[in-house]
Amino acid sequence: MLPMVDPEEDRPPGYTWRMLILGLESSCDDCSAAVVEETAAGPVLRSLVRESQDEIHGPFGGVVPELAAREHLLQVRAVMAGALEQAGVTLAELDRIAVTRGPGLVGSLLATFSASKAVAWHEGLPWVGVHHLLGHLNAARFTAPDLPFPALVLLVSGGHTHLYLAPNWTTLQLLQKTRDDAAGEAFDKTARLLNLGYPGGPLVDACARTATRSAAPFTPPKFRDGKASWSFSGLKTGVKLRVERNPRLATAGAADAEVQGLCRSLQEAVTTWLLKPIPELAREHGARSLIISGGVACNSRLRSEAALLAAREGLVLALPEPRLCTDNGAMIAAAGALLEPDPEPWHQNADADLKLGV
Ligand code: KG4
Ligand code: ZN
Repeated sequence: MLPMVDPEEDRPPGYTWRMLILGLESSCDDCSAAVVEETAAGPVLRSLVRESQDEIHGPFGGVVPELAAREHLLQVRAVMAGALEQAGVTLAELDRIAVTRGPGLVGSLLATFSASKAVAWHEGLPWVGVHHLLGHLNAARFTAPDLPFPALVLLVSGGHTHLYLAPNWTTLQLLQKTRDDAAGEAFDKTARLLNLGYPGGPLVDACARTATRSAAPFTPPKFRDGKASWSFSGLKTGVKLRVERNPRLATAGAADAEVQGLCRSLQEAVTTWLLKPIPELAREHGARSLIISGGVACNSRLRSEAALLAAREGLVLALPEPRLCTDNGAMIAAAGALLEPDPEPWHQNADADLKLGV
């Protein structure tokens, strides 16, 4: 296949073209496609399209799986065509197609999964099924292709709050995770209790940034069994109790100083708790770098505190740019570039509970 290199364009020294990948992702409520060019110097983003479903799920305050699945079916063709058009690439010029295989909402996953198999069959294209979390890990390759390993990898989203040790870009070994809610849920549920809108993370973040002072701090949970883990469900209860004690908070809105202070306290708690285990685990495992990815990695305070921590601990920090932290097709393409294509995609199926390493 012909390399898609424009001779007029500037390329970095030592540039070697490897392959052109279409990446598809629809595991939750974002339908996304991207064209990524894999080079010897790392992945290069050629296009990224994402259709949000916020308006559909907003009135329910959370993702409604059946509605998400139906919407993905309506969106998938246009998203794929948009990514190819933006990149100026035809299907025939691709070298492979990569798609999220799981975990996620099965109805949602099936939209891009089925589309990818149809395209692979029609075009005779190599096909790669990607674990969603390997995608989030590989989002960091766009910013730090030469990252030193081993890396500590904090994956924080609306569905995951997991800390891994990664010896390379395709392996994740679990170190600790949340016992209950994901960190993103703490943001989303707080936004719901304060009637700030949906999705909650960016709105709580913006509200916290305007605060001149924090409300009373939240107490970190204590675990009787002493197991290393997180718990975020207490934060939701904590916010609920404060709103019950002071009902005007539920309707005061983002311009209110007390609401702002509450958002700031919540954000401080989530950030501090998330980063707390990292120095000790980095030393224990000889980690040389820290990757933070997933939707919550967009959070302004988490990003600034992580930068301070990394500098203090001598870790190289890789924070994908925000549009690559939330679910997207580019991260799936970047991971798919490093995995072996499956010789028989027709026998594969999406897997809502896909385990790592399978
Ligand atoms: O990775 P993602 O797009 O989807 C999942 O796999 O869950 O993450 C979505 C989550 C939501 O909970 C959203 O509120 C949160 O990421 N989020 C944020 C911010 N932007 C998105 N949380 C805190 N601060 C943000 N700026
Ligand atoms: Zn995700």
